[in-house]
Amino acid sequence: MNFIDEKIKTYMDGLYKPVSEEMGILREKAEENHIPIILKDTEGFLLSILKAGRMMRILEIGTAVGYSASLFAIAEPHCRVDTIERNPEMFKEAVKNIEKLGLSDRIRVHFGEATNVMEELLKGLDSDEIELEPEEEIIAELLGDPSMLRLYDMVFIDAGKSHYREFWDAAMGLVRPGSIIICDNVLMKGKTVSDEYDPDGKHKTNIRKMREFVEFLSTNDLVDTTFLPIGDGISISVVREIWDTDTIDEPEFYPINLN
Ligand SMILES: C[S@@+](CC[C@H](N)C(=O)[O-])C[C@H]1O[C@@H](n2cnc3c(N)ncnc32)[C@H](O)[C@@H]1O
Repeated sequence: MNFIDEKIKTYMDGLYKPVSEEMGILREKAEENHIPIILKDTEGFLLSILKAGRMMRILEIGTAVGYSASLFAIAEPHCRVDTIERNPEMFKEAVKNIEKLGLSDRIRVHFGEATNVMEELLKGLDSDEIELEPEEEIIAELLGDPSMLRLYDMVFIDAGKSHYREFWDAAMGLVRPGSIIICDNVLMKGKTVSDEYDPDGKHKTNIRKMREFVEFLSTNDLVDTTFLPIGDGISISVVREIWDTDTIDEPEFYPINLN
């Protein structure tokens, strides 16, 4: 059962064009194998955000076969993507696909549990491991804090639905004011809105956790969040400037790099 009218969905999907022939083939193959990659309208939305926002550093939680990570790298030819996958088969397939698309120099696929990998990425922020582009060096000097540039402009959360809160908390240590965090599947085919979309009651835990997460997001004043009925439901949160909020009281994760 889904909350989007079938006729509207068919019409909208008819407007879809893959970004390249290879990406069209990758989508077809993933769909044939029932791999849950981003839906077509979600892809369109993400492309607009990427093109309008000049997202240079992107973190993705949930790689699957590397479809959305590749889309990001194709849409913004100067960006770098870190993407995390814990399933070994998916991980191998993603590495293979990304290599085939010639994107390995800009996409790093990390194998492991997302929160563990994010902890490692957080530690890496202070190291000199990540090379800055010459224009970034200049901005880093102006900011007086190069580690700011190692933070992510965009985080895309698209993994285990009952763990969004953990992913979110870890992600908040890796972003800066103005960064955006996008979460996919927040409406869970309507289940978040109403139990009628879960007639057998099979998804009770996931539903409860997603409802709690949506409530948390909608009342979180470190970000400004909008929920959109695109694809399987998307939230888009913009991290506020620190002075936009008067409720920050030594937060655990944010803002780690603002002295
Ligand atoms: C919906 S798919 C990602 C699809 C991908 N973003 C795309 O659109 O091409 C979710 C992936 O997240 C992975 N995953 C789920 N929980 C995870 C976790 N805790 N840490 C790392 N990966 C996880 C799953 O193995 C699965 O491959």
